[in-house]
Amino acid sequence: MFKKPRWLRWKGGKPQDEAGWKDRIDMERLPQHIAIIMDGNGRWANARGLPRTAGHRAGMGTLHEIVDASGEIGLKILTVYAFSTENWKRPPEEVDFLMHLMVEYIVKELAELHEKGVQIRLMGDIEDLPGDTRNEMKNAIEVTRNNQGLVLNIAVNYGGRSEILRAVKQVCAEVRGSRLAPEEIDEELFGRLLYTEGCADPDLVIRPSGEMRLSNFMLWQIAYSEFWFDRILWPDFHREHLYQAIVEFQQRHRRYGGL
Ligand code: IPE
Ligand code: IPE
Ligand code: MG
Repeated sequence: MFKKPRWLRWKGGKPQDEAGWKDRIDMERLPQHIAIIMDGNGRWANARGLPRTAGHRAGMGTLHEIVDASGEIGLKILTVYAFSTENWKRPPEEVDFLMHLMVEYIVKELAELHEKGVQIRLMGDIEDLPGDTRNEMKNAIEVTRNNQGLVLNIAVNYGGRSEILRAVKQVCAEVRGSRLAPEEIDEELFGRLLYTEGCADPDLVIRPSGEMRLSNFMLWQIAYSEFWFDRILWPDFHREHLYQAIVEFQQRHRRYGGL
């Protein structure tokens, strides 16, 4: 029987290399920090005649795979955008489902993540989350606080603009209290007031689903990040895509404004 070539069978995005992207990664030059906008769950479900919630559940499976793959190759920091400050605009049932799914993710994965040395961090205003979501997340941070492996930074109720404003307010309070002079405010100081304090900026930002926008993600930190966009929907994203993005990242020339 005629077997379609792999690139024809591919559901979306760029054709995948049969040779395997993983072997092509230069492990000496891994990006330190990869940030992913996990997008396309709803469209993935729609295309199958399933409720959007089924897409979010499938997306959680992808997250498991990508966290696993990231730890395995020795990535230092993986940031994932799970819920934006704008996502509250969605129907309440979907918001509830997503909040519950985060609890489910932590409950289901915490033991394994901890065993693998993953350190969980959060980015966003978690005080506005429902009590059980907030508590599970705080517990996960506490339990994994001293782990030395992959830093898994989860962006929940996160918005780049609100993060910047939060830092601006802190700076203003310090200046008003005469603990800081305006001349002392520099990028280094400002960066320490962001959720990503102590983390290198993302080297690579990945957005699946075909959207070519940032949707309020890490506006300060991505000033010099490389971008990898693809039409693949998040539930269809697999470790090969991560490897491919890394290989393509390694082929780029980052100039930072220089020559
Ligand atoms: C990403 O998938 C998950 C969240 C934003 C929480 P979407 O739910 O945005 O899926 P699409 O973009 O509608 O396909
Ligand atoms: C960005 O995706 C937020 C997350 C992935 C959590 P959205 O689906 O909310 O972004 P827009 O609405 O298409 O810009
Ligand atoms: Mg979306």
